[in-house]
Order: sequence, then C-alpha cells, then structure tokens
Amino acid sequence: MRHLLSAGDLDHDTALLVLDTAEQMAATQQREIKKLPTLRGRTVVNLFFEDSTRTRISFEAAAKRLSADVINFSAKGSSLAKGESLKDTALTLQAMGADAVVIRHQASGAPHRLATAGWVHGCVVNAGDGTHEHPTQALLDAVTMRHHLVGMRRPGAAAGRDLAGRRVLIVGDVLHSRVARSNVLLLHTLGADVTLVAPPTLLPVGVDSWPCATSYDLDASLPGADAVMMLRVQAERMHAAYFPSAREYSRRYGLDARRLRLLDEHTIVMHPGPMNRGLEISADAADCARSTIVEQVGNGVSVRMAVLYLLLAGSADEGIR
Ligand code: NCD
Repeated sequence: MRHLLSAGDLDHDTALLVLDTAEQMAATQQREIKKLPTLRGRTVVNLFFEDSTRTRISFEAAAKRLSADVINFSAKGSSLAKGESLKDTALTLQAMGADAVVIRHQASGAPHRLATAGWVHGCVVNAGDGTHEHPTQALLDAVTMRHHLVGMRRPGAAAGRDLAGRRVLIVGDVLHSRVARSNVLLLHTLGADVTLVAPPTLLPVGVDSWPCATSYDLDASLPGADAVMMLRVQAERMHAAYFPSAREYSRRYGLDARRLRLLDEHTIVMHPGPMNRGLEISADAADCARSTIVEQVGNGVSVRMAVLYLLLAGSADEGIR
C-alpha cells in the first residue's frame, strides 16, 4: 500500500491487516508509556483545507504516538487563505521533506490529484475529500463493529475476522456523505450487508450501482439490523431544499426513543460526529448504552496509527515495537 485514497483500494486481506494492526496499536495504548519509536525521524504533514475536530486531532495524536514529527497546516492562518493553489502548497511541503501528507479538502478528488501529479513524493492519506470518500472513518467504524458484533474482545468467543453477514443500516444524508460511500465499499469487502436508508432526495444519482440495498422506510428497516449508523445532515453542503422541514426529517429519518425500542438487544448505534442532536439523532439515542459514538472516536487514533505505520514502516510482520 503506497497511499490510502479510497476504501475501495483495500482488498479483503489488506483491510483485515489494517484492522488487526489497529487492534495491536490499541493494545500498545494500554501501556504506561504510550509512545512507540517506530516513526522516529519521519515527518507527517496534516493539511486541512476544511474544518475538522476529531479527524485532525486523531491523526495528530496517532503520528505523535508513533514518534513522527508532525506539522499541522490548516487553511485558516496560512497562505491558503490568500488563495495559494494546491500545487504550490504541495511543492512547499515537498521541499520540507514530508514523508506522509494527510489531506482533507472540499474538492472531491484532491487527494488523488496530490498523489498522482508527482508534486509530493510521500504517501498521501485521504482524510475526507468533498462528498467523495473518508477511508479512515470507514476503517474505524469497522473496528468498532468488530468489537461489538464479532466478539473480538470477548474471551472465549470465536474470533471471526471480518463482518460476513452482519446487517448494517446507514441512515440519512447519503448524498453529501463521504463517510457513507467509504463505509459501503469497505463493509462490502468485509462481507457485510448494507442498506442505505434515506429520502429519495438524499440518495446520490447512480446509487443503484453501489454494492448495497436502498430503502426509504426507516421503521421497516430497523428490526434485524446489527448496526445503525446515523449520518449528519450536512447543511453546509445543501444549496437547495432536500426535505420539507427539520421536524419532518426527524419524524421520518431521525433515531429517537421510540425507534430505539424497535432495535434488537445487541444492535449498536453509531454516528461519525459531529452530531445535530435533535435532528438526525435524539439525545436519548446519542447517549444510550448501545451508542458507540465516543468509542468510535477512540478507535480513530489506533486506526490512524495503523495506517501511518503500514504506509511508512512497511508490513506488520516486522512486529510493532
Ligand atoms: C465526517 C466528515 O467530516 O466527513 N466527520 C468526521 O470525520 N468525523 C462526517 C460529517 O462531517 O458529518
């Protein structure tokens, strides 16, 4: 693996390698001294053209726990705010000797351009590009699902390694969600059955060719689901009216106390954050015992450690020191 641009670039074995490496990384984080020397002398640049809390902080924590030098570069307060192009920014980073560039950009395809144009020689990691993809989010979601649905950490439980046959609902603003696309691709590779649940206006054109089912009816989809992943209504990307009102949206597609009661006992509730509490998810649902929302954030650090480690330090066979 040279770059991580799309969840679709990961074949079954590689996806499992990343998930298993993330488990190993999580184990190292239980030690008293959390820092590993693995990436000493390497430079990781976090290049964020779009706002981010969880993703930016966890990439930074991940790189630091592996002893890399980290340069954080965000659009506000840099020459990007003066209109400097992606190319010129990339050439600057290259001159500084970046070994890996983690990029979030409002334009779908920007990480791909960075990786293929020859402007930087290091590895490129897509941390979210427009409405296109967010592969490390899908990986951390898969780690979370494995913990709960495959019994990875339950002593004595059969350690199935993928998500074969697990039923996952992805609910809400699929149209604007890079999280949804990356999850569909990765979950398909891992053998899960995915259903996208959304109003017709919030499903992208061409969704028929995605490896998943679709439904407009949330109540009918909930029974039998193993995981229900709620998506944020991305108001900042909406330039038209996609639903009649917030109240109507919550009534049809929001996860609330009544809908929680339709879930099976083991079903987990997920959300990538940031949440619109009261719109796509009620406080009852966000804070309930089956919610994995905070755990997902924690898994983000170990997944990003795994990705940086595998890209920069080679195969996991060498062992994590
Ligand atoms: C997501 C993103 O930025 O794509 N958030 C995240 O990375 N945790 C989802 C969102 O913004 O709704």
